[in-house]
Amino acid sequence: MKKILVINGPNINMLGIREPGVYGSITLSDIEKELSSLAAELKIEIEFFQSNHEGEIVDKIQQSFGKISAIIINPAAYTHTSVAIRDALSAISVPAVEVHISNVYAREDFRHNSFTAAVCIAQIAGFGLDGYLYALKHLEKIIK
Ligand code: DQA
Repeated sequence: MKKILVINGPNINMLGIREPGVYGSITLSDIEKELSSLAAELKIEIEFFQSNHEGEIVDKIQQSFGKISAIIINPAAYTHTSVAIRDALSAISVPAVEVHISNVYAREDFRHNSFTAAVCIAQIAGFGLDGYLYALKHLEKIIK
C-alpha cells in the first residue's frame, strides 16, 4: 500500500484555540481524522507528524526517504522563512503539496512569499480543512 506523510508545522497544534477568526474552530485532530477516513477509502496508508521545531521537520523529511510516495505539508510560519525545509523536500524528491488553511495572500505581505512552494507540485490556500483533503485526492491520483 502506498504511503503519504502529512506534516504540520509550528502552532498547527494550537488550532481550535488559535485565532479562530482566521483559522475557524477546526483542530489538528479534526484534520487528522478526516484525512484518515479519506485515506482508508482511497486505500492509502497515512502518517501524521506535527512539530514546532524546524530541525525536527527537516529530520522527519530526511527519514522518510524511500519509505513514502508523497507528502502533504503545511509548513506554517516556516513557509515564509525556511530554506532548510525547502532543501529537505527537494532532496528526497517525492511529490509534495503545500497546504495553508487560511488564504495567505489576503493576509500580511510577509505571508505572500513561500520558500517551499517552488519545490512542491501545487499549493492550496484558503480552503480550511478541505485543502488537506484536496491534496490527498490529487496525490493519490499521481502515485497510483
Ligand atoms: C498557515 C499560514 C501561515 O502564514 C501561518 O504562519 C500559519 C498557518 C495556514 O495554514 O494558513 O501558522 O500556514
